[in-house]
Amino acid sequence: MTAGDFMPLDGWDHIELWVGNAKQAAYFYEHAFGFRRIAYAGPETGVRDRASYVLEQGDVRFVLSSGLRRESPVGEFACLHGDGVKDIALRVPDARAAYREAVQRGARGVAEPHWSEDEHGRVELASIATYGDVVHTFVNRGEYEGVYLPGYVAQSSNGADGGVGLVTIDHVVGNVELGRMEHWVDFYERVFGMTEMIHFSDEDISTEYSALMSKVMTDGQGKIKFPINEPAEGKRKSQIEEYLEYNHGPGVQHIALTTENIVETVEALQRRGVIFLNTPEAYYEEVPERVGEIAESYEDLRRLRILADRDDDGYLLQIFTKTAQDRPTLFFEVIERHGARGFGDGNFKALFEAIEREQALRGNL
Ligand code: FE2
Repeated sequence: MTAGDFMPLDGWDHIELWVGNAKQAAYFYEHAFGFRRIAYAGPETGVRDRASYVLEQGDVRFVLSSGLRRESPVGEFACLHGDGVKDIALRVPDARAAYREAVQRGARGVAEPHWSEDEHGRVELASIATYGDVVHTFVNRGEYEGVYLPGYVAQSSNGADGGVGLVTIDHVVGNVELGRMEHWVDFYERVFGMTEMIHFSDEDISTEYSALMSKVMTDGQGKIKFPINEPAEGKRKSQIEEYLEYNHGPGVQHIALTTENIVETVEALQRRGVIFLNTPEAYYEEVPERVGEIAESYEDLRRLRILADRDDDGYLLQIFTKTAQDRPTLFFEVIERHGARGFGDGNFKALFEAIEREQALRGNL
């Protein structure tokens, strides 16, 4: 039996964020990130304790929920962690079988397998816990024709501006406490049959500059990629420690979304007010030599502050947003892959050195 046979995954189903104000968060993801609203559930549809907005772009589906009452678990989550990811839901052919396998292999059950139905058919759901307060819901929607899930009504955006070219979820990264990375690597190996993805990087160098340790778990077909970070001693104070402090424990650090034209996607996102991390000018002095020939113009990359990296299989272009809420917790990555299967590890050192070159120019090194 090859790894993962006991846990077949058809891909990402959706990512649900639990937030303080889903109505306003939905507006942000629609107008800034180019998502299209497709469904809604709330008091008007018979749901008493929460309101949920379902947004789509390409194959990416986000659900934004907020609680309506003091004792709501959605409200409690948003109060403790801030707005963030509650559920990384995965599509499976059989949610009952996935749940049974997962629990037998040591996962903690959160919602027993159950069918939910309406006039459009039925969906089978079951949930297990992962790091922090995050869960994985198994979704079998093979017998469902409705817009999202039973209980939701179709709803369209109010004055949507159209997409920005985001296509799929590439990876979803979890931050866990110091010394816990191996535990969660083992969890994804044991419970999901995933394997550690070996991607080329000089581990010592990237750890020294990024102040994090990271391993990437992936399913048999490489559709699902879960990097797991823990803090490490580096030249800089660990960004992971800061996350853990403000999130009150482990959780999702970033969601990477693919595009087939990062220059156009980033231009559109910037026009709509998405703010990206800046990159020092000095980075662009060394990048053509480090990454070599690419199809895009280095001038466009410099203008938009897009990063580039190369590994044994090709190159990738990527850029990170600033955090999407006031706490320094969840942010987004936009990534365009040209063969490369890595995660841009070479950028840690390149960015650090670029910052130091600029410090030196100011006489502050
Ligand atoms: Fe990433």
